[in-house]
Amino acid sequence: MKANGDCNSQNPIALIAEAGFDNVRVPIRWSTHAQSTPPFQIEEKLFERVDWVIEQAKANGLVAVINMHHYEEMMSDPTGHTERFLALWRQIAERYKDEPESVIFELLNEPNGTLNANLWNKILPQALAAVRESNPTRAIIVGPVQWNSIGYLYTLQLPKDPNLIVTFHYYEPFQFTHQGAEWVNGANAWMGTTWDGNASQQAAITTAFDTAAKWTAKNKRPLYMGEFGAYSKADMASRALWTAFLAQAAKERDISFSYWEFGAGFGVYDRAANRWNEELLQALLQ
Ligand code: GLC
Repeated sequence: MKANGDCNSQNPIALIAEAGFDNVRVPIRWSTHAQSTPPFQIEEKLFERVDWVIEQAKANGLVAVINMHHYEEMMSDPTGHTERFLALWRQIAERYKDEPESVIFELLNEPNGTLNANLWNKILPQALAAVRESNPTRAIIVGPVQWNSIGYLYTLQLPKDPNLIVTFHYYEPFQFTHQGAEWVNGANAWMGTTWDGNASQQAAITTAFDTAAKWTAKNKRPLYMGEFGAYSKADMASRALWTAFLAQAAKERDISFSYWEFGAGFGVYDRAANRWNEELLQALLQ
């Protein structure tokens, strides 16, 4: 048994590495485990959990992407929360400044709502500077507004920093990938939507990817598809085809990726049965 109670065979990080993945993206909701007033201190208990994940990633040879997930107040009141956002990053950056370069920071998952491109382009360089105080060269992932939409990459003003990676998320066609998703209004009406990879479906993806790849080449940044996946309420044949096509399209363009996600509603791993969903695993690692 591990310190956190996981049996070795069920340690998700070890499983991910054994299967052949080379990175794990770790969604962390720092904002619900930190003081709401200065100095905005993050709970030691949360840090200890993240320490464990980083140790496991290192021990298993995985790149670990440490992000900031579900900071909802940044979306509804970005200006009011900027000071706290920066203070959280100062603490995270200080805590992990001595980690190897296989630990990567991702500044903010899916900026959306009131956090528009104009505001994000002002706040992003401040967050980057806050991290750079203690981590002068660590790779840092940044993405555009509209939930890291690939179509909004061009709105991102990239600070002059040589160690930035640009991210986007891909869930198109949304009515296919999010059919039956409980958190999306109207998603039940999309049940039964399939994806068979016909010419126009493929073209929608390759056109979007080519546009993104051109933009990053022009800006001389590596590109990372930080999330993509089809919810478990879609049929498995369509999910596997779509996932394989996306993974292949990314590889062909040197786009690194992380699948959303390990073992919940989109899961490539079935935690109840303790086994991989083979079709999805093959689709990702083909
Ligand atoms: C984003 C959201 C997450 C959701 C996923 C797919 O990562 O933060 O909650 O499950 O997208 O919709």
